[in-house]
Amino acid sequence: MQGKIIFNGISRKNTSFYIRYPKIGDSTLMQDYINTISEEQTFIRFQGEKVTLEHETKFLNDQLEKISKNQAVLFLVFSDQKLIGISGIEMKDRTSKHEGVFGISVAKEFRCQGIGKILMHKVLDEAVEDIPQLKIITLGIFANNPAAFKMYENFGFKEFGRLPEGILHKGKYVDHVYMYKKVR
Ligand SMILES: CC(C)(COP(=O)(O)OP(=O)(O)OC[C@H]1O[C@@H](n2cnc3c(N)ncnc32)[C@H](O)[C@@H]1OP(=O)(O)O)[C@@H](O)C(=O)NCCC(=O)NCCS
Repeated sequence: MQGKIIFNGISRKNTSFYIRYPKIGDSTLMQDYINTISEEQTFIRFQGEKVTLEHETKFLNDQLEKISKNQAVLFLVFSDQKLIGISGIEMKDRTSKHEGVFGISVAKEFRCQGIGKILMHKVLDEAVEDIPQLKIITLGIFANNPAAFKMYENFGFKEFGRLPEGILHKGKYVDHVYMYKKVR
């Protein structure tokens, strides 16, 4: 499965892109991607911190192992050989082993073209198909991110709680909102 292309398409703004499984050796591309998006201080956990190649290689290897054991899904989006988006689901363990945690990001220049929506569809479909114990998908979202909230609602996710001031974003405290979707 490693490196296999699962989708080829054109965005609403005529950007051609494809989605594929990750493979060994992707960590340099992933490190560059995450460091760029971290610098942007968008609605993700990384807020300017730099990720080392060692850290990213460990993350990728862990993910590849989990994918091989049907414990995770990870898809990468490319346009012209450039990594422009990452999304995945990772299963929890023990009493929460039926819960998968979802995450997604698309590079700034490629947002609002419909790419995130296609990517999310592919990740959710793959997770339901490949992870038999998956029953509930959860995610966390910054309360000041209405665009992503709308997207998740459109996918059938519902808010189940929020931690008041649970996120420090650009010097301001905002609520951390939790959403879920039951898939079986
Ligand atoms: C959230 C994110 C992944 C969405 O990816 P994208 O490629 O920009 O999304 P799409 O263009 O496919 O839009 C998907 C839906 O999101 C919503 N949306 C996207 N941009 C929006 C905007 N500017 N205003 C309102 N809604 C918006 C819409 O519901 C849209 O569906 P529609 O096109 O049918 O109206 C992307 O914007 C991103 O990476 N943002 C920064 C990081 C982030 O917020 N990650 C999520 C953390 S929880």
